[in-house]
Amino acid sequence: MSEPRIAQASPYAVEVEQGKNYWWCACGLSANQPFCDGSHKSTSFTPVRYTAETSKTVYFCGCKRSSGVPLCDGTHRSLQASAGGDAPAGA
Ligand code: FES
Ligand code: FES
Repeated sequence: MSEPRIAQASPYAVEVEQGKNYWWCACGLSANQPFCDGSHKSTSFTPVRYTAETSKTVYFCGCKRSSGVPLCDGTHRSLQASAGGDAPAGA
């Protein structure tokens, strides 16, 4: 598995709490998106920590292809056109 799975071709809006750490799933396999549930163990991916500086809504990347992980940077828009949503890993 060299490419992460597209968990969702759009971001996840999450209310984060100031001072809390969040572990974003980089592999796309977690059943608890957008967060890591340990499913990456069979892959080369590791989760990315996000520390909330303030309490607010943030948009975590669901396509796992953002250049600004763990947050969405709009890269998913180009995927939707070509992949049609939930493409299998490596497609
Ligand atoms: Fe995806 Fe941990 S389950 S990084
Ligand atoms: Fe991945 Fe937006 S959901 S870049």
